[in-house]
Amino acid sequence: MLAAPARLCYQWRRMLPWFQNQFPLYLAPMAGVTDHVFRQLCKEQGADIVVTEFVSAEGILRRNERTSEYLVFSEMERPMGVQLFGADPEHLGEAARAVIDWVKPDFIDLNFGCPVNKVVSKQGGSALLRDCPLLARVATAVVKAAGNVPVTGKIRIGWDAQTINATETARILQDCGVQAVAVHGRTKEQGYSGVADWDVIGEVAAAVQIPVIGNGDISGPLDVECRRAQTEVSGIMIGRAAMSAPWIFRMIKHYLSTGEILPDLPLAEKWAFIQRHARETVAQRGRETPAMHSLRARLMAYSRGMPGGRALRGRLQFVSSLNDLEEIAGHHQQQALEFIEH
Ligand SMILES: Cc1cc2nc3c(=O)[nH]c(=O)nc-3n(C[C@H](O)[C@H](O)[C@H](O)COP(=O)(O)O)c2cc1C
Repeated sequence: MLAAPARLCYQWRRMLPWFQNQFPLYLAPMAGVTDHVFRQLCKEQGADIVVTEFVSAEGILRRNERTSEYLVFSEMERPMGVQLFGADPEHLGEAARAVIDWVKPDFIDLNFGCPVNKVVSKQGGSALLRDCPLLARVATAVVKAAGNVPVTGKIRIGWDAQTINATETARILQDCGVQAVAVHGRTKEQGYSGVADWDVIGEVAAAVQIPVIGNGDISGPLDVECRRAQTEVSGIMIGRAAMSAPWIFRMIKHYLSTGEILPDLPLAEKWAFIQRHARETVAQRGRETPAMHSLRARLMAYSRGMPGGRALRGRLQFVSSLNDLEEIAGHHQQQALEFIEH
């Protein structure tokens, strides 16, 4: 982790250890993306803190088999959090307790940002941003149930442009005993469109004493430097950019400690990384064909920014085995070489 500027080193009664004199880089929770294998790879590349994808509190209480897969993690991922979503304070409290007894995470993270209809229609995720009394009851119940295990929250800046309330939401969470809040600088209505509003993130960071983690549109070292200078955020969270380039964490750390921008990873190293991701996924899931099918969207993300990306994606969408992937990787590198030579 990187040394934090003095102004960030305020005292907080129960400051999470990874904010003490540090400026942590978080891997954003992403459903279908930030599984056990990917989190480990990001951790190796310099992510300081990782969080599971969102997990349903109701699924935990039903001991749903798929849900238990989301909770698999290894010691090298620590400090790591389990993100829960739901809308029933009592159930969320029970689910937090069950997760803590079950897998002993370093913290529980509460999802107050998911914009997906299936979640919002049941009052979960970002629906709680427009029901602050319920949000407070959820946070209070989980903080109480979690005991000594810290609870953090992840919010959006508001429901829509007319109801931006991130500062109010963050204050409520702080008062309920939540120990850090990640703010994605978009409203629920925006989904993933438009640009993240870092002015609002900055207002939240200036208004609360708990650490605020800024999130939205970070795509490289200069973005981190700029947002850190512009706001009093205590850490940065990276989502989509890490999906295409998990080595972004290493690039950022190198820049912040040396001032030097590393060149992009050579193509051969990218392919070696991607193939390792695939091998480890197959090893973890056990069955090669379904594992490779589940990776197709991930491979598409990796191909972003690569030479001949369109043709490459045309081939990656049919990948069914590690051999297929090896063949595509070899062919693509050969083509890239020929392209350079001509
Ligand atoms: C595919 C995908 C899945 C996501 N799943 C979750 C999730 O499970 N929990 C959550 O809090 N946010 C989720 N998010 C939102 C991200 O954590 C993050 O807030 C958002 O992508 C903005 O950050 P970025 O601009 O760095 O990508 C997801 C985003 C994407 C693209």
